[in-house]
Amino acid sequence: MAVERTLSILKPDATRRNLTGKINAKFEEKGLRIIAQRRIQLTKAQAEGFYAVHKERPFFNDLVSFMISGPVVVQVLEGENAVQANRDIMGATNPANAEAGTIRKEFAESIEANSVHGSDSLDNAKTEIAYFFKPEEIVP
Ligand code: PPS
Repeated sequence: MAVERTLSILKPDATRRNLTGKINAKFEEKGLRIIAQRRIQLTKAQAEGFYAVHKERPFFNDLVSFMISGPVVVQVLEGENAVQANRDIMGATNPANAEAGTIRKEFAESIEANSVHGSDSLDNAKTEIAYFFKPEEIVP
């Protein structure tokens, strides 16, 4: 298996409930290393740009509004098979369908307030990491 990097976002419902440490522990327990991390308030333009691939979907405006409703933590996670490993740790998008032990099963409030985002492919991970981080901000 290859060592990969993936972009993770701890969403506003997670920062609001002070869950960043508990969620980071899940990544670290499963062997993912946080090699960059920054707490930010997304602007509307930043959120719209990040989720541009979803702009035709009916929930787009709600998703953008939610993502700017409070601070987020953007992160780069590194490890073996990191893209899929992170998606496994997160669990299904809808917490009602997430498996026991996953972040979304334990912490998510709804399909919208689902605590975490993770890149869904290696190509998207590269694009999403570059959206938030300069190379020199990533310290493996
Ligand atoms: S996934 O994981 O990308 O396949 O999930 P997908 O169903 O395509 O959803 C993409 C992102 O949209 C969010 N989402 C929603 N937000 C608000 N309301 C509704 N109904 C809704 N459905 C999906 C979902 O949390 C995904 O966010 P990210 O940040 O990509 O995980």
